[in-house]
Amino acid sequence: SRTGSGGVVRRRRRRVLMFPLPFQGHLNPMLQLAGALHARGGLDITVFHATFNAPDPARHPPGYRFVPVGDGVPSADLVPSGVDADIPGALLRINRRLREPFRDCLRQALALPEDDGDEGGAPPACLVVDSNLRGMQLVAEELGVPTLVLRTGAAACLVAYLAFPALCDKGLLPPTSKDKSQLDIPLDGLTPLRLRDMVFSPTTTHANMTECLKCLVDATRSCSGVIFNTFRDLEDSDLQRIANGVVGVPIYPVGPLHKISPCTEDSLLAPDRACLEWLDKQEADSVLYVSFGSLARVDGKELLEIAWGLADSKMPFLWVLRHGLLVNSSSSDDDDDQDKVRRLLLPGGFEEATRGRGVVVPWVPQQEVLRHRAVGGFWTHSGWNSTLESVCEGVPMMCRPQFADQMINTRYVQEVWRVGFELDGDQLERRKIAGAVTKLLCTEEGRRMRQRARDLRDKAIECVQEEGASKSAIQLLIDRIASF
Ligand code: UDX
Repeated sequence: SRTGSGGVVRRRRRRVLMFPLPFQGHLNPMLQLAGALHARGGLDITVFHATFNAPDPARHPPGYRFVPVGDGVPSADLVPSGVDADIPGALLRINRRLREPFRDCLRQALALPEDDGDEGGAPPACLVVDSNLRGMQLVAEELGVPTLVLRTGAAACLVAYLAFPALCDKGLLPPTSKDKSQLDIPLDGLTPLRLRDMVFSPTTTHANMTECLKCLVDATRSCSGVIFNTFRDLEDSDLQRIANGVVGVPIYPVGPLHKISPCTEDSLLAPDRACLEWLDKQEADSVLYVSFGSLARVDGKELLEIAWGLADSKMPFLWVLRHGLLVNSSSSDDDDDQDKVRRLLLPGGFEEATRGRGVVVPWVPQQEVLRHRAVGGFWTHSGWNSTLESVCEGVPMMCRPQFADQMINTRYVQEVWRVGFELDGDQLERRKIAGAVTKLLCTEEGRRMRQRARDLRDKAIECVQEEGASKSAIQLLIDRIASF
């Protein structure tokens, strides 16, 4: 602190450096955290980012600095695509390729003159880095910059990842036999998880998975604090487990970040807002919202089953058919003629069969959709942001996880919070889909799940109140940053 001209003791202005992982589900929480630190702590913000999936500076306060890292680094193989994409492999490549360019960028940021004006800026206090960016954390360590790590997933997921090496030592991972009963064995100390929930994706190599998780755990153990996008009342026991020495550094459960931050979304794709007007015309809790996030993909056969399952359910639905969703389709998320692409993807006869009760769009303002009174259920891939956003609006879920943390999240939704259920089975089948939609929207069981989701929503609201657990954690975090 120092004394201002009026004799008032004021805190020295500080700048927080941030480096999000360049994917929608990781950019959103990091930028929301930036919004909270800026609005509440008066901290200046610098966002380092990859040159692909770059955030849009125009959507943030003018004082933010955005610094692209790795101009000219080829990125085609850094963006996972295809049902069988090796995401850990892509994460490892991102770390390798961006590390050197980041060193130069960070050196330049540290060399900027400190002044009290808006331009020169406050001196950097620390780097907040995504937990998957161990490479960038090492660069910060080398240059003497303290780091905080943002875990964009559930606390439960970190507990599971911390147990990964022990499961390998016991010979349980990677699963060696195709015997299904082995995959279904419950994991000691990790209830309600089973061995199958720890298999990141069938196509990821065990070596990549092991290295990736080692980097992640090393990142959380070598930093000055771990920030979680979750809230105490949702994950109390897993948070306590982590706080009681599993990681060994202070933890800050500051979520749900989209409810704490003035910056709610930084969508990489343009959302269709007309769907909200359509929702206005639907009855309360009657609509199924369907979206599989920004990375998941399906093949042509699965797309057919989804389409006809929704048609056969006879319920109203709002379906996000991202253009990149279909594997091997010639369309991508960048295609301009959205109507044409949608018609190409959907089966013949589907539009007629669902006219008046089905809306299919390439991207929506998801938080507003989930908040809408007409939405009664969410068919999700169980990405952590989607799970948290659904819980925070009291919307029950049917889950079809594909990879990464999605299986773990699904287990918690079904077994711990009991606000939804897994749509299981090796194949997607239209009959099962229609049955699941009916269960979620039209049965007493679904109604009870909705009630439990609403109870959790109320707890989330309490946590983000002024004296609530998440607001207090944000304040502790701001104090910690000021202490660097
Ligand atoms: C990825 C991983 O897949 C996920 O498992 C991990 O937990 C986070 O990183 P993603 O697949 O994109 O994320 O899913 P999710 O975490 O649910 O994030 C998607 C984000 O996109 C959400 O914040 C959601 O609100 C937003 N979204 C999605 C939109 O704004 N509009 C849409 O139409 C769909």
